[in-house]
Amino acid sequence: MNAVARSAVTPQELLAPVFAQYPLSVVSGEGVWLNTRDGRRVLDLYGGHAVAALGYGHPGWTAALTAQARSLSFQSNAVPLEIRERAAARLLRFASLDFASVFFVNSGAEANENALKMAFTLTQRAHVAALEHSFHGRTAAAGAITYGARAKWYGFPRTPFDVSFMPRRDEDAIAQHVTERTAAVIVEPVQGVGGAFDLGARYLQALRARCDAVGALLIFDEVQCGMGRVGEPFAAKLYGVQPDMLTTAKALGAGFPCAALLMAPRVANATKLDALGTTFGGGPMACAVIEAVIEAIESEQLLARVRATSAQIRSRCLVGPVVAHQGEGLLLGLRTTRPAKEVHAALLERDILAGTSADPTILRLLPPFTLESTHVELLRDALLEIGG
Ligand SMILES: Cc1ncc(COP(=O)(O)O)c(C=O)c1O
Repeated sequence: MNAVARSAVTPQELLAPVFAQYPLSVVSGEGVWLNTRDGRRVLDLYGGHAVAALGYGHPGWTAALTAQARSLSFQSNAVPLEIRERAAARLLRFASLDFASVFFVNSGAEANENALKMAFTLTQRAHVAALEHSFHGRTAAAGAITYGARAKWYGFPRTPFDVSFMPRRDEDAIAQHVTERTAAVIVEPVQGVGGAFDLGARYLQALRARCDAVGALLIFDEVQCGMGRVGEPFAAKLYGVQPDMLTTAKALGAGFPCAALLMAPRVANATKLDALGTTFGGGPMACAVIEAVIEAIESEQLLARVRATSAQIRSRCLVGPVVAHQGEGLLLGLRTTRPAKEVHAALLERDILAGTSADPTILRLLPPFTLESTHVELLRDALLEIGG
């Protein structure tokens, strides 16, 4: 490329176009606030797609990461590490469900790919039942079980296995989709991208019962709704349903990329050496951060805080364009009288960053667990100003 052509390219054009860009130039973060290049302070109710569970600059998170970076930045899973073992034990204890082992990976999609692989291996079947409006990631298997992906962005010549999509909360439809040929049912107990849509205990219990009846495995994708976001360690706990596998990411590292696949005893016991693998998964910096995130959630009583803040948003923010709420904890959907995109833009003009979803009239909130009541009041004031 010659000098003239090079100078015509803006710095942003050097990046592949991933997501439409918010009109926001963020230079730093502090607690629940983002600082922009032009001197604005923006209240972050979106947390970088549900990641920033502790906000920005959390002292415990920062100290754990920097201390680990100084002492040992990396060793792979071929080398036993105390920090990795500690993180696994801490995560299993935090979950307080019937899980026996953890496989640490790097992203939500990777966790889901591995969960599916385990289900195919264990059952020797090749069909998966997923849900309408689901989102599970962008890789070949995770994209195959994501609702609408094949029509919009899937990109691979064919999906690697059979998939059917069930209507949400429709108990009568389960038996038709989940049969003796089904390896796994995969479900987000509270759908994220689908619009902060809570599936509820009754429906999830019905999925559990059908999986047991036909010998399929139940996988909970808690990449977005897990790690305390629903006010319990996991939605599985909130709804009282034990899956065979659970995937989680996002808040797990609260800003450091990492993910995990939790396996119930029968899956854990069937895992053979060399069936699973990763270079970066379970790296010491990720594990130090996982430990620090759980420590912060427990020592700062953030689960109770998530529940209280959620209740406050529900009671105080039914104003202006908002007519109803859905979701759980701090994965909330605010139903709006006009397109959520418009409300999103109006909030951003008032220095509040929210999220949207696949549902055009749902404004999605995924704030840090450390959000306080004064911040909720700022949201209320902005919604009142925007009007219905
Ligand atoms: C429920 C759910 N599963 C999986 C994923 C994919 O995670 P990742 O982008 O880390 O691959 C996402 C991402 O938004 C998600 O919300």
